[in-house]
Parts: sequence; structure tokens; C-alpha cells
Amino acid sequence: MKALVLSGGAGTRLRPITHTSAKQLVPVANKPVLFYGLEAIAEAGITEVGIIVGDTAAEIREAVGDGSELGIKVTYIPQDAPLGLAHAVLIAKDFLGDDDFVMYLGDNFIVGGISGLVDQFRAEKPDAQILLTQVSDPRSFGVAELDAAGQVVGLEEKPKEPKSDLALVGVYLFTPLIHEAVRSIEPSWRGELEITHAIQWLIEQKRDVRSTTIHGYWKDTGNVTDMLEVNRTVLETLEPSLDGEIDETSEIIGRVQIHKTAKVTGSRIVGPAIIGAGSVVTDAYVGPFTSISDDCRIEDAEVEYSILLKESSIVGVRRIEASLIGRNAEITPAPRVPAAHRLVIGDYSKVQISS
Ligand code: DAU
Repeated sequence: MKALVLSGGAGTRLRPITHTSAKQLVPVANKPVLFYGLEAIAEAGITEVGIIVGDTAAEIREAVGDGSELGIKVTYIPQDAPLGLAHAVLIAKDFLGDDDFVMYLGDNFIVGGISGLVDQFRAEKPDAQILLTQVSDPRSFGVAELDAAGQVVGLEEKPKEPKSDLALVGVYLFTPLIHEAVRSIEPSWRGELEITHAIQWLIEQKRDVRSTTIHGYWKDTGNVTDMLEVNRTVLETLEPSLDGEIDETSEIIGRVQIHKTAKVTGSRIVGPAIIGAGSVVTDAYVGPFTSISDDCRIEDAEVEYSILLKESSIVGVRRIEASLIGRNAEITPAPRVPAAHRLVIGDYSKVQISS
């Protein structure tokens, strides 16, 4: 069995971060979201992994390399444009050959891995298996309709009027039959070859398409709110380790990881939080659910419930929260504009001006 991981695409919802970098590499607890998926694949005993890459190919290659550090062997498959998830399967045909495979969307985050699912697929061998989960607003997902017996009877991609609240999770298990399906469909209204349509095609051919509904934690990390929420969940499981240089006047509370090359002076850090290699925290407050990547600088500032990418800095600024701060970004106070009020005030007026 092989794996096909989708790490191309444009990532418009995380702009401007993804103007310059791949959304799959945005860190969660200082590790790229893509790595959680690759680790889950390795854990399920799959070693041959094809990664679909687009405009951000160079960056993905630099981060993942040949995969040996993660215990997998990676083949990169370039996609000229993000023409759809089924298009990715189409161009991966040579790599996939006649093997069964798991398709994993590189921006999806699933707690608990995929080993159980892969074992079940290997044992039962349906033609395809999809993962579903209940969501409050299904309109931005693929949506499944099940019959009374729990059998999938229809799938729709981002429907305006969803037939259920069961969204497709970005992990799919396929037999080689899917290749015929992706060749048989036409692009959707948004110009993409949808994997949802290819699976619908299998259903119409009376193939055995099964579904598993997961109740655990799943997020499509396509937007900032979800990214921060995933970061929060992962930080809650952090192993505390205070390896960096921490001076006596600093106070560290709760689950906190401080890299051995990080430096904390005169600061208060309330976990769960992580401080990456080479980062310097001086006279600052770092609050719960904050991930500070490598080589960042937090000085005379307060930050919580946020993700800071590499080499960013916050200096002289009070509370920053619920924020995603890109690489090399600098946050400093705005210069004070002299306050002035110009008034023409009538006789006997009473005016209150906040000073
Ligand atoms: O997250 C689950 C959802 O993922 C499903 O519910 C939907 O049915 C499915 O279509 C997909 O929807 P999204 O709109 O969220 O997909 P997105 O365009 O974000 O692409 C998902 C991943 O695949 C992302 O890492 C980028 C990559 N990708 C995407 C396209 C369209 C590619 O590598 N190539 C592509 O052509």
C-alpha cells in the first residue's frame, strides 16, 4: 500500500502567509502541519509516499527532504496548477501503479492517526473508503448522504443546501479502481476535477464505497481560526521541558517547552506554550496556547493564543492575541500622533474630552 499526500494548491484563506510559503508548512506547536500527516502515514506502516507539490515545491522539498527522518521514502510529483484533488490522482498514476493507497490532504489534522483505518481497509477491502465527521456548517466541505443502513448514497462538493451535516475528512482509501473514476469525470463549476465526483462515480457504478464516521478531533487547517485551535489542542499535550537559559527573575508556569538554545529573561510564561531554538524572550509575558518558532524576539511585550513563525519579533507592544504572525514579521508600537482637539464651542456648553 502507498500514500499520496496533497501539498500543492494555493491556500488563499491563509493569505498573506501563504503568498510566500506553503500552508502545509505553517507550524503547529513548532512542527509543520504536514509532518503530523506524514508521521501518521509512517505509523500505519506505509513507507512509499508520493507528495503532490505546486508553486511551493522548493519549500516542501527543503522541509521534508527524502523523508528518511520520518521513516518514509518520498517521491515528489509536480502539479502545474491546482486543478483538483482528482487531478492529483490522475497525475500520480505512474507512481501509484496498481497499488491500493491512502490519499491524505496535507492541510488536514487528525488526532489519533490512521492506523486503525488502514488496518480495517486492508482486512475488508472495499473499493473505496471515506472518512466523515459531523460539522456545524457543512457548506465549505464535501458532504455525504447516507441511507438508513448507513450506506453512502451520494456525495456533493461544497453544496449550498447540504443534505446532511457529515463532511468528508481529507483522508481517503482507494483501490486502483479510482483511476478509472478520475478519468471518467468532468471539471466542476469551479474548474476542478473533484475527488468527490470520482467517488460519486464509483457509487453510481454500484461499487462498494464505505464510510467511517470519526468523532475524534479533526480540522482542515485552511483558515487562521482553525490553525490556532489545532495549535491549542496540540500544546495541551506538550511534554514540559525547560532546557533554555532562564534567569531567576523569570516565572514559568504550567506546560512549557523552552528549547535549549532559547533565552528567557525577566519574563512570565504561562503554558501551555513552546519557545523555539534561538528565540529570546525579554521582560515579556507569553500566555497560554502560544507557539513561538525559532529565532524570534519578544521584548517588553505581551502575547497569547498565537503562532509566531520563524524570525518574527514583537517589541514594545501590549497584548497581542489570536494572531498568526508570518516569518520575519516585525511588530512595534505605532509612533504617537500628538492629540489635538479643534473646537468651536457655544456659550455655556459642557464638553467632556477623554484625555
Ligand atoms: O478538508 C476536507 C475537504 O478537503 C473535503 O471536505 C472536500 O471534499 C475536499 O474537496 C477538500 O476541500 P478543500 O477546498 O478544503 O481543499 P483544498 O483546495 O484546500 O485542498 C486540500 C489540500 O490539497 C491542500 O493541502 C492543497 C492540496 N491540493 C489541492 C488542490 C485543489 C493539491 O495539492 N492540488 C490541488 O489541485
